[in-house]
Amino acid sequence: MKKVRIAVLCSGGGTNLQALLNAGEAGLLPHGEVVLVIADSGDAYALRRAERHGVETAVFDKKVYPREEREREILRCLKEKEIDLVVLAGFMTVLSENFVSAYRDRILNIHPALLPSFGGVGMYGLHVHEAVLRAGVKVTGATVHVVTDVCDGGPILAQRAVEVREGDTPETLQKRVMREAEWVIYPETVESYCAKLSQEN
Ligand code: GAR
Repeated sequence: MKKVRIAVLCSGGGTNLQALLNAGEAGLLPHGEVVLVIADSGDAYALRRAERHGVETAVFDKKVYPREEREREILRCLKEKEIDLVVLAGFMTVLSENFVSAYRDRILNIHPALLPSFGGVGMYGLHVHEAVLRAGVKVTGATVHVVTDVCDGGPILAQRAVEVREGDTPETLQKRVMREAEWVIYPETVESYCAKLSQEN
């Protein structure tokens, strides 16, 4: 069986990438393999994580490539490496319609809240947790969804709820959401999506 070739796109720390790499090494990603990590910043710690696991990396730096050119280069790289599935893991650029249509139904994203709440343009990273605390909700979580032209609006594949606690700061909440939800549901969902893609091929 041919494994689904996965590229993970990151901008920062890459803890979700780490969860995927760990899952792969533990044999929990039998239908897919992370073969490429792309970052839009040379400083992204995600790149070091990839190197440590012997995964090829590429950087298309925001400081060097304007957005359209950056997307074009990323697409070219994905095609060259025969990537089947694009997994966004803390990738902080909203992808254009053109990009999404080149990988229709083959781009997944994780969002650190229970969509459709606390999603959309400007809702990323700590901003999401700040908004959750401002709203005073008692439950938040994480969502894995298929990426479409609508920012954070694609079909939902998985969600997990996480309790908001008295005295939480955006940082404490972010950590709990990552630990209890993101790092659990992302590898599981990527694996089941890869299993589905393998059946189609
Ligand atoms: C994660 O919490 C992820 O859900 C979020 O950025 C963080 C990246 O952390 N993504 C978004 O906010 C996308 N809208 P990581 O680099 O350690 O995986």
